[in-house]
Amino acid sequence: AKKAVLGPLVGAVDQGTSSTRFLVFNSKTAELLSHHQVEIKQEFPREGWVEQDPKEILQSVYECIEKTCEKLGQLNIDISNIKAIGVSNQRETTVVWDKLTGEPLYNAVVWLDLRTQSTVENLSKRIPGNNNFVKSKTGLPLSTYFSAVKLRWLLDNVRKVQRAVEEDRALFGTIDSWLIWSLTGGANGGVHCTDVTNASRTMLFNIHSLEWDKELCEFFEIPMKILPNVRSSSEIYGLMCLGDQSAALVGQMCFQDGQAKNTYGTGCFLLCNTGRKCVFSEHGLLTTVAYKLGRDKPVYYALEGSVAIAGAVIRWLRDNLGIIQTSEEIEKLAKEVGTSYGCYFVPAFSGLYAPYWEPSARGIICGLTQFTNKCHIAFAALEAVCFQTREILDAMNRDCGIPLSHLQVDGGMTNNKILMQLQADILYIPVVKPSMPETTALGAAMAAGAAEGVGVWSLEPEDLSAVTMERFEPQINAEESEIRYSTWKKAVMKSVGWVT
Ligand code: G3P
Repeated sequence: AKKAVLGPLVGAVDQGTSSTRFLVFNSKTAELLSHHQVEIKQEFPREGWVEQDPKEILQSVYECIEKTCEKLGQLNIDISNIKAIGVSNQRETTVVWDKLTGEPLYNAVVWLDLRTQSTVENLSKRIPGNNNFVKSKTGLPLSTYFSAVKLRWLLDNVRKVQRAVEEDRALFGTIDSWLIWSLTGGANGGVHCTDVTNASRTMLFNIHSLEWDKELCEFFEIPMKILPNVRSSSEIYGLMCLGDQSAALVGQMCFQDGQAKNTYGTGCFLLCNTGRKCVFSEHGLLTTVAYKLGRDKPVYYALEGSVAIAGAVIRWLRDNLGIIQTSEEIEKLAKEVGTSYGCYFVPAFSGLYAPYWEPSARGIICGLTQFTNKCHIAFAALEAVCFQTREILDAMNRDCGIPLSHLQVDGGMTNNKILMQLQADILYIPVVKPSMPETTALGAAMAAGAAEGVGVWSLEPEDLSAVTMERFEPQINAEESEIRYSTWKKAVMKSVGWVT
C-alpha cells in the first residue's frame, strides 16, 4: 500500500507512575497519530513502602515504542519520519544502578514511598541556620516526597549501593536519567543526564543557580560524583526530557505568566507559570522549575500544588477492594447515585501533600450509614480528587493574588465526565479540557521537536495550533459548593495525626 505522506513526526515517551505510553504526533498539526500504553506494577513490600522494578519500566518503554511503530505501519505511516523523541516522566522516583553492568542495585523507590519519614524527622532537627535552608535553595519543604532522602536511605541501607559507590560504579537518577542512560547505550556509553525540571525535584538542586548544590549534598551526605549532568529541557542529548508535570504545562501551552494547568494522573498536580520569577509560597505550595527550552533559553518557574493520590484512589478501589474491575467503571457507579450521601473519603495513603505536608495523615472513609453502598464510596473517591484540587487552587489564588478565572485540565481521568462536572461545581469556576488530553506527551514531543538541531516544531505563539476545548460550567449554587467543601475539611482534620 502507498505510504501516507506527512510532515516530520515526533515521538514522546510518557513514563508515569501507573503506566508507560509512547505517542507519535504530527509536528505541523500536533495531531496524535498513534500510541500504545502498558500498565506498570507497583510493589508494597511493607506498610508505606512503594517500589517499582526499573527494568520493567525500561522494558515497557521498548514495548510501547515497538507496538506504536507497528500501529503506524498499519496506517501506512513511515516511521523514518520520526525526527526526535521526547521523554516525560514521573518525577522524584529514585534509581541507583551499576554503570558497568547496567543493572539496578535496588528497586526504584517511588515518589509516594514513606519509608524515609524518620530520616526526614532526624534531618529536620539538623537543618543548618534557619529553617529556610532547604526551601530557599530548592523551593521544596523537607519531605519524604523528594529524591534526596530516598537516595540517603539507599546509601544507608543497601549494601550493594554502598559498595558500588565506594568502587565508583554507582549512578543515581530519576526515571528520566535511568531511561535516557539505558536508551542511549547503557553500559556501552549511555548518557548520564537529567533536565532542570527533574533536577528541581531532587532537593539537591539549586533552582537559582541551576546547579547541584554543594551545601545541600553535604547536608544530605550525597556524593556528588553519582549525580547526572543537568541539561535544559529541550536539546539533543540522545533524547530530550522534562518532568511530566512540566511537559503538561508546555503541552497545555501555558507559556504566559499566570497560566495554569491541573493534570490528573496517579497524583494530581496544579502548576501555575510564574514566568522568570521564582515565587515562594506562603500557603504550602512548591516552587519548581517549569522548563528551560534550550541551552541558551531562559528558565521559567512555576508554583506547584502536588496532591499525592488522585487516579491512585481508583486503582486502590479496583485492586485492593475489588469494587470495580476496570478504572472506567468508577464513572458508572458514581452516576448511579449522583451523590456520596454524606460519605467523605480522604485518600491520605502517603500522608497529605500540598497544602498540608502532613506525613502523619492516613486515609479515612467517614460519614458512613447503613444506607452507604459502593456507589457512594465511588462518588466520594471522585469528590476527594476535586476537593484536593480546590485546596490547591485556594492556596494558588492566595499566593498569586489574582484568582484563576478557569482551570485547564488534562490527564487520563479527565475522560470521566462526572469528575469534570464535579470539579467545576467544587471549584465554582469553569473547567476546560483539550479534546486531546495527552498533553504531557504532547509537551515532551514539542520540547523534542523544537530542540536546536531538530527544528521540526515551532514554539512561536503564532505557529502553535489552536486546541479545541470542552468546557464544564458550575451547575450547583455557590452555597451548596461551600457546605460540601467545609465538610471535606472536617474529614481532612480527622485523617491528620493518625500515625505518630
Ligand atoms: O511528582 C510525581 C509525578 O510526577 C507523578 O506523575 O503522572 O505518575 O501522576 P503521575
